[in-house]
Formats: sequence, structure tokens, C-alpha cells
Amino acid sequence: MIEVEGLTKRYGDFPAIQDVSFKVEKGQVLGFLGPNGSGKTTTMRILTCFMPATSGTARVCGYDIFEDSMEVRRNIGYMPENVPLYPNLRVNEYLSYRARLKGLGRSQRRKEIAELVDRCSIGDFDRVIIGKLSKGMRQRVGLAATLLGGPPVLVLDEPTVGLDPNQIREILGLIKGLGGERTIIFSSHILPEVEMVADHLAIIREGRIALTGSLEQITRAAGGSKVRIEARGDGQKIRDAVEKVSGVRKAVLGSRDGLAVLEVEVAAGTDAREGLVKAVAGAGGGLLELSCGRTSLADVFVRITATEG
Ligand SMILES: Nc1ncnc2c1ncn2[C@@H]1O[C@H](COP(=O)(O)OP(=O)(O)OP(=O)(O)O)[C@@H](O)[C@H]1O
Ligand SMILES: [Mg+2]
Repeated sequence: MIEVEGLTKRYGDFPAIQDVSFKVEKGQVLGFLGPNGSGKTTTMRILTCFMPATSGTARVCGYDIFEDSMEVRRNIGYMPENVPLYPNLRVNEYLSYRARLKGLGRSQRRKEIAELVDRCSIGDFDRVIIGKLSKGMRQRVGLAATLLGGPPVLVLDEPTVGLDPNQIREILGLIKGLGGERTIIFSSHILPEVEMVADHLAIIREGRIALTGSLEQITRAAGGSKVRIEARGDGQKIRDAVEKVSGVRKAVLGSRDGLAVLEVEVAAGTDAREGLVKAVAGAGGGLLELSCGRTSLADVFVRITATEG
């Protein structure tokens, strides 16, 4: 549905994005994740034909963003970073105006606006002046406007920015409900948000795609696992033994109720459990507990966006 290939955008000499490539299949929700200034908005503006790329190509619903930009725009609902609403209009007037811009006829307008007011839970506010709405409510109005005309592809640039936790949950719920039916790219620099809604992820860092794939794939490939060990005995000695087990990246020693507690990081694709059990016994320790957890996506994100290389 969306294919991005080698997009590069330079502002003067400064490359805002470089060689950005990713794909979004029909019905997928792609979380476009990256720290501030990493190139999310730049990429989205190019995809929605608001700005040309310096080089590279992209296709949306089979249409080339350079050659068929009118068709691309027709198929995309774009919600920019700062939703441009008209503060003097009432919500229903604004939606009606946007619907006319999209070329919807009178009866179609009525029908769609009624549906979207309901879907985005803005019914109680549809006659309120936009300038008086809370930020979260404005965001919902912006989303409703984006959905007018039923575009199959949605590009939402940080739809949750500036919202309180309840509003964030609501808007994410709305977006999640649209997945499957629409193909969605939404950007954020907050990982837990993305985790709640997206099924696929593209992580961008300093203008380059650092990682793409399904949430599952990414956690598995880049993640590794964590093992927690509780044992009786000489903690220091146990830790030294544990660190020698193949696949162990790091072991941090703590204590609880006089027991040694180790948090062990294990490299991706290795199962170190048997080696760990032997190591604890070999160091004269009495193993009381060994439990495994997956590395969270948060660990992966921090590793990718915070470290060099
Ligand atoms: N018009 C412009 N002229 C020059 N540099 C720009 C321009 N717009 C963006 N940049 C730079 O390009 C880089 C990417 O910006 P972009 O807005 O795409 O990042 P972003 O990931 O959307 O960030 P944020 O999370 O803050 O919204 C930044 O370093 C930014 O300073
Ligand atoms: Mg941005």
C-alpha cells in the first residue's frame, strides 16, 4: 500500500533524511518512531506530497508521489503535526468546510459528518467554537476531518502530542480501531504509545531508518532476553561464574533477604538457562529461582536511539 524507497531530503547541505525505505502493507498500522528532529515530519510531508524529496521514490496505493501527486493526495488523509483548525468556526461548520474541500456532495457530507462525530466522540461539542475546545478535543476534530471522504491511507503526525494520559488513550483507541480497515502511518517519539497501537514499527534515527519490522520481529531480533536468578551462596562468586556462560552479556548482582539476586542479560537467539543453572551450582550456590523475561521494546528503542553505530 505504501512503498518508500531511498528517500533523501536535504535542506541546503543538511540531510534531514537519508535513504529512507520501508513498506506498509494494506491494513497495517505502522508506528514511525524516532526522537525529536530525526526526520519523521519530513518523511511524512514528502509522502503526502507537501514537499518534494531531493531523491528517491515512493508509491501510495500504487501511485507515484511525484508523477501522480493528485491521486496520492486523494487517497491519503493527512493530519499534520499541529492540526490547523479555524478557531472561529464551530466544529460542525469546520467539518462541513473540510468535507466541501474534499468534494463531498451535500447528502454525503451530512452522512459522513454524522458518522465521524459519533465515531470520534465529539457529539457533545459539534456546535462549540473550535477556539474554546481543549487540546484533546481539537485533536479529535482534526482526526475526524482527516477521515472525511474515507481515504484508505492515513498519515498522522504525532497525533497525541500535548494530550493528557486520558486523551492519549482515547485517541490511540480511535486509531487502533481504524487499523485493518485503513492503512496507517503514525509518528511518535513515545514508545509505549506506539506499542499500544502499531503492529509494525519503523525506527528512524538522525534521518536514517535504524530498524523496521513487526513488533514481534524487532523484539526478537534486537532484543535478547533477561534472566533473573535468586540463589543462596557467595553472590560475587556466582556472578563471576554466570558471566562466563556463553550468551551472557552482563550480570548485575544485588541482594534480597540475604540472598544473591542476579539480573542477567542474554544475547538474542541464545538460551542460556541450562548453562546458568550449572554455573550457579558450580560456584557452590543453591539455586532458588530462575525466571526469564523478554527484553522490552523500550530496551531496544533506547539501545538503537541512544548509542552510536
Ligand atoms: N525547513 C527546514 N529547513 C531546515 N532544516 C529543517 C527544516 N525542517 C526540518 N529541518 C531539520 O530537519 C531535521 C528533521 O526534522 P523533522 O521535523 O522531520 O523531525 P521530526 O522527527 O519530525 O522531529 P519532531 O519529533 O521534533 O517533530 C531536523 O534536524 C530539523 O531541524
Ligand atoms: Mg515532527
